[in-house]
Amino acid sequence: MPPTDFVIEPADPFLAVTHAAPYDYYRRLADGPPLRFEASLDCWLATGAAGVQAVLAHPACRVRPPDLAVPHNLAGTPCGAIFAELVRMNEGERHAVPKQVLARALGQVDLGRLQEQVARLAGDRVPVSADQLNDAIFQLPLFAMADLLGFAPAQWPALAAWTRAFVACLSPLSNAGQLAGAQVAADALLEGFAALLREGNARPGSLLASIVTEADAMGSGLLANLVGLLSQTCDATAGLLGNAIAALRAQPDLLPSLRAAPQRWPAMLREVSQRDPAIHNTRRYTAQDVEFDGVRVPAGQMIVVVLASACDAQFGFGHGRHGCPGQSIALTIATACLQAWTDALEGMLLRWEYLPSLNARIPVFMEGTSA
Ligand code: HEM
Repeated sequence: MPPTDFVIEPADPFLAVTHAAPYDYYRRLADGPPLRFEASLDCWLATGAAGVQAVLAHPACRVRPPDLAVPHNLAGTPCGAIFAELVRMNEGERHAVPKQVLARALGQVDLGRLQEQVARLAGDRVPVSADQLNDAIFQLPLFAMADLLGFAPAQWPALAAWTRAFVACLSPLSNAGQLAGAQVAADALLEGFAALLREGNARPGSLLASIVTEADAMGSGLLANLVGLLSQTCDATAGLLGNAIAALRAQPDLLPSLRAAPQRWPAMLREVSQRDPAIHNTRRYTAQDVEFDGVRVPAGQMIVVVLASACDAQFGFGHGRHGCPGQSIALTIATACLQAWTDALEGMLLRWEYLPSLNARIPVFMEGTSA
């Protein structure tokens, strides 16, 4: 990381996501108007707790443009078929009913057992180099979810690789090769879940079993939203783990104090998800003219909701009807991983940059210290 005193401020909220030190910039955004038009990006920005909360709560601010349920480059593809069904990408009945089923099933997960299980998995896979750490922050959360869903351990590495390949279709930065790989991965993931269901293999007590009991309510979106549980876990939980490791490097007293009082890990991770969150922004599109505090946004506009500019509030997991139903699971997985890796992390010299992204802040670690 460059010394932060000499860092030039990011020019816009997309560049802030992977900037070394974006939080003064975000604070300045929060001090400005809650809603403003940003001519350089040809879209609106919602900033600070007031702006973020107002847009996320507004019924006419939708997760997709009204006339474009699926992006053009995914239409008619396996990725597009999944995208069209995701609760994350829908509104109304197609959102509310399946979201309730997923939230109920995720809410029934025994977090104590999950923590023990992830501690075992992470303890068997302690990273001892920067490269291994970069793989582990993605793999462990996906292994944990694959296990919760009921997949056998031999299937986890392929599922994790397909999930990472699939999420590439969700990023505007992906190239043609990544998009092609995402299609292959989408088919493989759908087939993986279909096989698990076909064989009647939903392990009793597994997350899959509790979702399948409400298969009718999930309707045609069952398989897609199961894939969605893996894809929603992927980048966001890797970001939480990575940013927590970055915080441990930046504050050398933290690790010894957590070692002395391990019950403080969940609070430390909540703090990271607030102060250096994994997801920095999300997008909404106005379905009709809307007015916030005297500012009128016409129908058909994109609003970038700058979650990271509301760090004083807790928006790291979103808010309102699309708020994250996986928060407790993510925090539990991250706690167990970091506890299992404490000794290894203490011995590693690390510097980092961020993976290219317009919304997720995920460190990529390298051996060594910053100059
Ligand atoms: C640190 C990890 C995580 C972070 C920071 C995170 C963050 C978020 C955010 C910000 C949203 C809202 C997006 C928006 O409103 O546009 C969201 C939605 C969602 N998250 Fe998470 N998430 C995490 C982990 C997980 C996990 C582990 C799961 C699954 C178990 C999950 C499942 C979902 C789902 C299904 C949605 C869509 C909800 C809806 O649209 O109704 N997330 N997440």
